Amino acid sequence: MSASLSQLIEEARSTGTLSGLPKSNFIDGQWVDAESGARMETYDPGTGKAYADFAASGAAEVDRAIAAAEREQYGRWRDVTPQERGAILRRAAQLVEENAERLAVVETLDSGKSIGEAQGDVAGTARVINYYAGLADKIHGETINSRRSHLTYTLREPLGVTAHIIPWNYPTSTLARGIAPALAAGCTVVAKPAETTPLTALMLADLFQKAGLPDGVLNVVTGTGSEAGAPLVEDKRIRHITFTGSVRTGVQVGQVAMRNVASTILELGGKSPFIALADCDMDRAVDDAVWAIYSNAGQICSAGSRLVIDRAIHEEFVARVVEKARGITVGHGLGGADVGAINNPMQLEKVHGFVERARERGRTVLCGGETATDAENGGGWFYRPTLIDNVPSDDEVIQDEIFGPVLSVQVVDGIEEAITAANCTDFGLMSCVYTQDVSKALRVARDLDTGQVSVNDYWANGWDVPFGGTKLSGIGREKGTEGLEGYLQTKGVSIRIDG
Ligand code: NAI
Ligand code: MG
Repeated sequence: MSASLSQLIEEARSTGTLSGLPKSNFIDGQWVDAESGARMETYDPGTGKAYADFAASGAAEVDRAIAAAEREQYGRWRDVTPQERGAILRRAAQLVEENAERLAVVETLDSGKSIGEAQGDVAGTARVINYYAGLADKIHGETINSRRSHLTYTLREPLGVTAHIIPWNYPTSTLARGIAPALAAGCTVVAKPAETTPLTALMLADLFQKAGLPDGVLNVVTGTGSEAGAPLVEDKRIRHITFTGSVRTGVQVGQVAMRNVASTILELGGKSPFIALADCDMDRAVDDAVWAIYSNAGQICSAGSRLVIDRAIHEEFVARVVEKARGITVGHGLGGADVGAINNPMQLEKVHGFVERARERGRTVLCGGETATDAENGGGWFYRPTLIDNVPSDDEVIQDEIFGPVLSVQVVDGIEEAITAANCTDFGLMSCVYTQDVSKALRVARDLDTGQVSVNDYWANGWDVPFGGTKLSGIGREKGTEGLEGYLQTKGVSIRIDG
């Protein structure tokens, strides 16, 4: 019987760590240390203290993992039927649910987020694995009968060995939303989690093996981006790379992939506009605007980090957001606070730097704008929910991804200005509009240059809706049936039949 949530929290809070955490790479079904013996520590952002260590891997471990994945890609895994692939995924989803509490506590310790948010992420992990389990046996090609002389059909085949590079903000579900369709499509996987959140990926690999996945089909190599990530994406045997993270690293990964003509899905940053028109339902819009930016301390690629607000309601709307922001409790993710920590001290410094520079430029910081500590722990990397009012479009807090709990406000007059302001960045990930007028809603949804739009809701889309970016926010789509397409390639077969 697995330990309950309260037992796990008690153990973590009293000892500062958890027993039974994974310690090594998961390669070819085995726990494997780095040949060099090198190790790294992972920190609990809620205390700022190291709480576990893991293998600091490099080219040697990456090579071993790719070799195992390649052997299986063209060996046993190819012969596993789509029905059986789906069954393995379903069992894995079931195991994620059975181990949800432990996964959530580890995700909180590793990433810094609140336990409630971590539980949501783990629940989403099970859902997305189940979603692709259901698609595994629904992959088929078509018959093209435009010539009487030939029978022509297409085969939908797995792309081959895939690499998955994962960031630290949603370490469990971001991994799952890539590996589940990859496995459903018949690909094999080598994944590299972020160096600050490596543990849940290892736990997930273990659960997939327990679900019956053959050794070598799913491998997880831990280490830094330069030591473990770079040799993985550079390897010629990798036929596809799914990357989630910063634009800078994403562009590098895309360039490397193109050298080997490997395909990519790049899920990069965002600077997503939250548009509230003058006729919106203000109670709902204010509530949603608060959580669109302050959830997970703003460390969400699709956070609503810009409030595009009609001048007619600007003052009241902002006052209400500020009041709610001031009421948000910030503290250790296992301690019951509304919002947890910033994942790492570099990120905290980056967030605060944006706010300090905004102050130097004379911008109005209406709340937050300061770091915080968890009183009980006397440490941790926290940032108070922050709002910067009335910022011009060309300001860096409008143009750049801060990736922290900082909401920047753009004041507009009417729908035309709202659309122009919303589209004013190089990003195009998420967006929303709040209005009671259906024509205005549809007009804005049509004219926003973003991968997804919500109306009178934020993050309205589920696992069944394609997710991805326009412009610098990325290439390709994850989730939905399109998320499976990214792992398939088409072979056309023509047979002459006029003999
Ligand atoms: P990053 O993009 O450098 O890291 C993401 C992943 O890429 C990590 O697993 C990292 O180890 C790996 N990586 C780094 N260099 C690599 C390389 N040369 N080859 C292969 N893999 C490599 O992001 P970082 O440094 O953690 O955060 C920097 C900024 O990125 C944040 O301030 C935030 O603005 C943005 N970010 C955006 C995310 C999103 O979901 N869109 C997630 C995390 C960060
Ligand atoms: Mg950590």
